[in-house]
This record gives sequence, C-alpha cells and structure tokens, in this order.
Amino acid sequence: MSPGSSIHVSLKINGRDHEISVPGCETLLDVLRDGLGMTGTKKGCDMGACGACTVLADGRRIKSCLALAASYDGRSITTIEGIGTLDNLHRLQAAFIRHDALQCGYCTPGQILSGLALLDEKPRDLAAIREGMSGNLCRCGAHPNIVVAIAEVAGL
Ligand code: FES
Ligand code: FES
Repeated sequence: MSPGSSIHVSLKINGRDHEISVPGCETLLDVLRDGLGMTGTKKGCDMGACGACTVLADGRRIKSCLALAASYDGRSITTIEGIGTLDNLHRLQAAFIRHDALQCGYCTPGQILSGLALLDEKPRDLAAIREGMSGNLCRCGAHPNIVVAIAEVAGL
C-alpha cells in the first residue's frame, strides 16, 4: 500500500458513527479538524509535546496529533464537542470558569479532556493532579488554577 492510499475507517465520535475514507498517513487530529469540521480539538505543536490535541479513545486520553486515524478503526472517540453544552456545561468546565483556569482558551479543550481522564484515575492529592496534567501545557500560565478546578471536582 502506498502512503497516499485511502483506508476505510469506522469511528464512533461523541456517540455518533462515522464511516470515512482516510489516507493511511492522516492523523486523527487532522481527520477531526479538517475532515469532519470538529475544530474544538486544537493543533498546537503537532508533535506530541503540548497536549492541545488531547482526546479520549475508549475513555483513555491520547494525543491525536500522534495518532494515525486508521489505527483507531472501530474505536470510540470523545472530543470537546461531546462534553457539555453552552446551556449545560460539564461540571469540570464550570469549575474551570469558576476558578479562572483559562485565559486565551487555546489549550482548554485538551485540558478538559485530559482532566476528565485524570478524574477517572482518582488522583489522591494536588501533587497527583499536577503530575497527571503535566502533558498539557498552558502558555498563558493557568496551570495553578487548572489544578484547583480539577481538585474541586475530585473532591479534594
Ligand atoms: S498538538 Fe498534539 S501534543 Fe501538541
Ligand atoms: S489558556 Fe491560553 S494557552 Fe492555556
């Protein structure tokens, strides 16, 4: 198969089935943003360093800029578009607002998805939250408030 060959891929994204044809070399991030118009997932470094592109695959966080879409055939993907609504925010989103855990907002979708996965891992203290969120960078320096917001939802 040549690198440009297309592959049929079935993805369940935010609970909805998508049957798509993608080049074998296309990342999940590019499929989401450019192929499906789901631009809530952000592209920062595009090399696995910043976490802006974080989504969940079967509930586990992944950096979608490093994920080949074809290798997620049959998987269930959650993006920020599947978390809360303007009228009914997820409680982690509400906590981010309450604790001023964002400025420009560019990193925020990735922070929220990563934070949700971390909450499932049941962090025991603030140090565990800091460590667990270390793969998600915020150029605006909102890290301390992000930790506080996640800690509130974790009941710490
Ligand atoms: S865009 Fe994927 S880690 Fe930075
Ligand atoms: S809020 Fe601006 S990069 Fe995090």
